[in-house]
Amino acid sequence: MSKKLDLRDRPRRNRKSAAVRGLVRETRLSAQDFIYPLFLHAGGEDQPIASMPGCVRWSLNGLVKEAGAALEDGVRAVVLFPAIEDELKTSGAEECFNDEGLVPQAVRALKSAYPELVVITDVALDPYSSDGHDGLVSDAGEIVNDETVAVLCQQALCHARAGADIVSPSDMMDGRVAAIRAALDAENFQGVSILSYTAKYASAYYGPFRGALDSAPKSGDKKTYQMDPANSTEALREARLDIAEGADMIMVKPAGPYQDIIQRISSAVDVPVAAYQVSGEYLMIKSAAEAGWIDEKKVVLESLTGIRRSGASMILTYFARKAARWLSEGN
Ligand code: PBG
Repeated sequence: MSKKLDLRDRPRRNRKSAAVRGLVRETRLSAQDFIYPLFLHAGGEDQPIASMPGCVRWSLNGLVKEAGAALEDGVRAVVLFPAIEDELKTSGAEECFNDEGLVPQAVRALKSAYPELVVITDVALDPYSSDGHDGLVSDAGEIVNDETVAVLCQQALCHARAGADIVSPSDMMDGRVAAIRAALDAENFQGVSILSYTAKYASAYYGPFRGALDSAPKSGDKKTYQMDPANSTEALREARLDIAEGADMIMVKPAGPYQDIIQRISSAVDVPVAAYQVSGEYLMIKSAAEAGWIDEKKVVLESLTGIRRSGASMILTYFARKAARWLSEGN
C-alpha cells in the first residue's frame, strides 16, 4: 500500500456518483431552452436540404406538423426562415411585407394550430432581396441603413399582424430596434417582443444556411454591417444600444466560436441572452458524426451545455428536436 497523500480537499468527492454529480451540476439543459429554426417554402412538398443534411424545406402543411412534433418533444419555440421564389425577389424586397406572403401565412397556420407555440420571425431583407443582402443596396453598391430600417419596420408589422409572438431583426442595421419598437407600439402591438441579433458576426459558418435559402449576396459581402470576428468590446456597444432601444432579448451569433462574447455580454446586461448555433456549427458536428468519427448525441449535448454554461439562456439550434428527445431519455 502506497502512502496516502495528505489532502484535505479532494474535488473528486463531488464526482463520485451520477446522483452526486447531479446535485452539484451548475448548468442544466432542457428542451425549454431551445428555439427550433425551421425552413419553409411555397411548394407543396417537403424537400430535404442538400446543403444541410437532416434539415428540410417544409411545405406549409409539413411545417405545421413538424412544429407540432417539436411541441410534443418539449420544444416550445420556433423561428421561421422562408425560401422565397426568385420571381418574388426585388431590389426593394417588397415581398417581405406582403400580408399574404409565405411567412404571414405560416405564422397564422402555426398560431391557429398551436396557440401556445412561441412563433418567432426573422426580420431582414436577404430572402426577399434580388441582391441577397440584409439591407437595400444603393446604385453605388452600398447597403443603405436608414432606408432599410423603414422596410424592416413594415416587415415587423406584417409579422405582428399575422400573430408573431417575437420579431427578431437579424440585419444589423443601426437604430432598427428603436424604430421597430416604435412602429409596433404605434399599431398597438405592445405585446410583441423583440429578440435582437445584437452581436452577429460576419461569419463563414453561415455558408450552408445561405445554400438552404439560396440567399447568398450576389456581390460583395456582409462586412459593412455584420461584426468583425476579431472584435469583442464592440459587442458590448451593440448590446448597450439594443437594450436602450427596447430589445427584450439579445442574441450572439454564431454560438460555439463566440462563447467569450456570450459570457462577456451576459455578465454585463440584465436582459436574457440567446445564442445561435448556426448552420456551419451544425454541419461540422453532423458530418463528423455521419462519418462515424464522433458520437453525435454526446457531442451535441456537450456543445449545447457549453453554450448555456457561457451564459446563454436560450439556444437556437437545428438539433432542437433531437436534443430534446435525447434529454428526455436521460443521459
Ligand atoms: C440572414 C440570416 C443568416 C442566418 C440567419 N439569418 C445568414 C446571413 O446573415 O447571411 C444564418 C443562420 C445559420 O447559418 O444557421 N438574415
